[in-house]
Amino acid sequence: MPESEKHTVKPTKGLKYTVCTFGCQMNVADSNEMSAHLERKGFSPTPELEEADLVLVNTCTVRQQAENRALSLLGRLKEWKRLKTGRVVVLTGCAAERIKDEVSWRIPQVDLTVGAKDIDKFGEKLEEFLLERFDYNAETRESFNASTNHSPSPAISYVTIMRGCNYTCSYCIVPAVRGREVYRPLETILEEVQAGVAGGSKEVLLLGQTVNSYSYENHNFASLLAAVDAVPDLKRIRFMSPHPHYFDAPTIEAMAGLTHVCEHVHLPVQSGSNKMLKEMKRNYTRERYLDAATALRKNIPGVAITTDFIVGFPGETEEDFEATLNMVEEGDFSSAYCFKYSPRPGTHAATLADNVPTALKEERLSRLLEKTGAQADRNAKKLVGTLQEILIEEFDADGAAMGRTRGSWKVKVKGQAGHKIKAGELVAAVITSADGRSVEGEARPA
Ligand code: SAH
Ligand code: SF4
Ligand code: F3S
Repeated sequence: MPESEKHTVKPTKGLKYTVCTFGCQMNVADSNEMSAHLERKGFSPTPELEEADLVLVNTCTVRQQAENRALSLLGRLKEWKRLKTGRVVVLTGCAAERIKDEVSWRIPQVDLTVGAKDIDKFGEKLEEFLLERFDYNAETRESFNASTNHSPSPAISYVTIMRGCNYTCSYCIVPAVRGREVYRPLETILEEVQAGVAGGSKEVLLLGQTVNSYSYENHNFASLLAAVDAVPDLKRIRFMSPHPHYFDAPTIEAMAGLTHVCEHVHLPVQSGSNKMLKEMKRNYTRERYLDAATALRKNIPGVAITTDFIVGFPGETEEDFEATLNMVEEGDFSSAYCFKYSPRPGTHAATLADNVPTALKEERLSRLLEKTGAQADRNAKKLVGTLQEILIEEFDADGAAMGRTRGSWKVKVKGQAGHKIKAGELVAAVITSADGRSVEGEARPA
């Protein structure tokens, strides 16, 4: 029996919700899913906190700073709740999972907590809460607003293909808060991609912590890519984050052969020192990582590789750090995210002495940023004069169209006279200027 037949009272009608998402794209995808549940229960979206009756704070805990940002918002929400009775705060995600036992006394302004491991039970828990709190009987809306795409642009759909992680990288809290790997059925993934395309998306971002370890019935990541590539009207496929260990020949062949898979791979390396990689329990060496990068470059001409680095992991010496600087040269990255090591409670690394002093971590971070920044500049400049396909995602504060190349460079596009560029449009543009921070181009007739 559909829920709408079971229940009649509709007290959530007219109530509004807003979502604040911290953390990675996986959290964005989870926010989409939770928003869909809220909308089915009759809540309507609003971007304005002042208008909202319910705020969902979807948190991250990968570094302490990420968790602190969510905690500081929760501090402000205490005041927000005081201003109007009946307002509700829902706490979800990875930090919620980590601190769920402390929430009731530490953050009493939170009304409902659903940790990252319970995302599948969000609908159930929300309903239970609404019944209790609002004397609520569920209203199920068959069709709800398509506002549940929290990706940076309606042109892109975020689709989670697996949850959790079977690795135990010694610095990382993700396996503790997200659990072990669970793969979503291929059919569900394809349905979600198709729904995204029907809603106007041109690009899909397939998500998982080690996205290329996907395995479901007789499917692996390579065959999943082939199945997604065949979805009619989908123009681009990206995925995040692959792990070097699973970059086997069939995956690289699939990437090279499938027309919609973009020539971009975000392949986190973390360190250039084999000693640090071992301590981090990354399950590859510097050489194995570079082999994967070489195989990608050989088979996919012009592929852009981006990465993540951690500086100041326990025991990192100047020599280890120099190996990381040297890795920048050898890896030839288009861009890199660089992080200071942040000890996370419960991880193996947190039992080691955090013995790189803060000032030294900061110094290493700035040396690494200088090096990766200069490399990004050099690689960006190579784009000048080339013709690139840009998917327009949004407009900047001055109204200029912003989009990405297939290699994931963000480009500000100047339109042609007489043609107003629209979000979601694929534009052919010649790159007119570029450095690591900003790339500009001019649209050409298709
Ligand atoms: N699953 C992905 C990474 C997810 S976390 C992978 O294995 O590639 C995103 C990034 O945060 C990591 O690549 C790492 O660079 C960084 N990170 C994770 N834990 C961290 C910590 N404790 N301190 C600093 N940075 C960390
Ligand atoms: Fe964390 Fe390692 Fe899993 Fe990535 S692969 S989520 S870094 S444990
Ligand atoms: Fe953060 Fe959880 Fe993603 S800890 S980085 S939101 S998986």
